Amino acid sequence: MKATAVAPSNIAFIKYWGKKDKNLRLPANTSISMNLSNAFTTTTVEFSADNKKDEIYFGEKRMDRKSSIRVISHLDRIRRIAKKNLFAKVVTQNSFPQSTGIASSASGFAALTLAAVGAMDLKCSEKDLSILARLGSGSACRSIPCGFVEWKVSKTSENSYSFSLYDEKHWDLKDIIAVVSTEEKKTSSTLGHENAKSSPLFSKRLEHLPARIVKLKEALKEKNIKKLGELIEKEAIELHMIMMTQDPPLFYWDGSTMEIVKLVRLWRNDGLLVYFTLDAGPNVHLICESKEENKVLEKLKKLSYIKNVIINSPSSGARLIDKHLF
Ligand code: PMV
Repeated sequence: MKATAVAPSNIAFIKYWGKKDKNLRLPANTSISMNLSNAFTTTTVEFSADNKKDEIYFGEKRMDRKSSIRVISHLDRIRRIAKKNLFAKVVTQNSFPQSTGIASSASGFAALTLAAVGAMDLKCSEKDLSILARLGSGSACRSIPCGFVEWKVSKTSENSYSFSLYDEKHWDLKDIIAVVSTEEKKTSSTLGHENAKSSPLFSKRLEHLPARIVKLKEALKEKNIKKLGELIEKEAIELHMIMMTQDPPLFYWDGSTMEIVKLVRLWRNDGLLVYFTLDAGPNVHLICESKEENKVLEKLKKLSYIKNVIINSPSSGARLIDKHLF
């Protein structure tokens, strides 16, 4: 009873911030994202009667009880569906640093969901998998379908799932992640979501978001980088303004984040069509069409504070593979 899954991380163009229901992880708003080809998690799950308890490994390192609790609760959900009380060995590895604004919980819970469901040999639709992944981590539900993905706001768990708007071949966009920090973030996004409503900007955001979503979908359909870019920058700034004005405030930006944000605007004045967005962390996601990739990389090479660059294309969603991690 063993299965291995690979799942991409995703970058949100319209962000999920704040929840209608904390336990069910029902979002306050619809969000839209793109799966990332070079930021992914691989997870192997084996359920066996020989296991005396759940054992969770991050690479070579065995995780302690406290850091495995969310993973174990997720395995419990899948055990309940399968009606099988078997403990699991789970080994997981990321292709990128954890907790640094590259959504590791998204790829992590998407891969864990598919691998555990596969190991239990459960028959689940893409919708079922997306709902299950959402219960582990909200943004994980967007890493199940392929390419460009929408997660619609809904009042009920059965209707809060993601689906593909376009597959990964629709538009040759690049997300070049400028990694400025590999430190683990101090406040998790789970905690951050809970306080989002305390920002005076939060309710205003919910009012104007539907119109922005319509425009963003138009930009995706038209493959209009200028339209998309202007919208995603507004979104990223708004997300972080809410974070900074919620109680207690959350500051994910650092000096290098601000430097790059300002530079991107200067590069655009010189005709380079590249735009920024951010997740819950200091690393900057630079979005452009593939024809601009080399020019953007040349610019980034000159910035000594950038530790690493991860170049992503749109990716397929979570999938099972034959090569197990153990
Ligand atoms: O799924 P979570 O709880 O890690 O929340 C993710 C929130 C953001 O990354 C900030 C935005 C998003 O939509 O991915």
